Amino acid sequence: MIALGCDHGGYALMQEVKKHLEERGLEYKDYGCYSEESVDYPVYAKKAANAVASGECERGILICGTGIGISIAANKVKGIRAALCHDCFSAQATREHNNANMLAMGARVIGPGLALKIVDIFLDTPFSNDERHVRRIQMIEE
Ligand code: RB5
Repeated sequence: MIALGCDHGGYALMQEVKKHLEERGLEYKDYGCYSEESVDYPVYAKKAANAVASGECERGILICGTGIGISIAANKVKGIRAALCHDCFSAQATREHNNANMLAMGARVIGPGLALKIVDIFLDTPFSNDERHVRRIQMIEE
């Protein structure tokens, strides 16, 4: 199950992401927002992040205008490693090295073509499980 959270700046791109997940047969829970009316991104960041932190969802995808605010807010939730990615290399590396459990993107930064590729890489790349990466992730939690 994938937790989704966005603000008004990310709403339109999130609709594309939802369509893409449906085409891939992947289940999601949409924690809002639900329109382009102006809202506060921390509300939706925290709802989606809590769903991932509690284990209700395995991964999460967050979108705001820049991806910055929503990733900062999500990373305040214990156990969340939200990675802001606007390129394919970062999306792959953050899964392999950081075992990132949430992906954040900015809808005013990249278009839907690249965003959906980044989503696929984020969802399809396993954590390396290398000892040094496990150790570093544990250090983040301490
Ligand atoms: C909303 O205008 C915008 O500030 C928000 O989507 C995001 O970019 C914040 O980091």
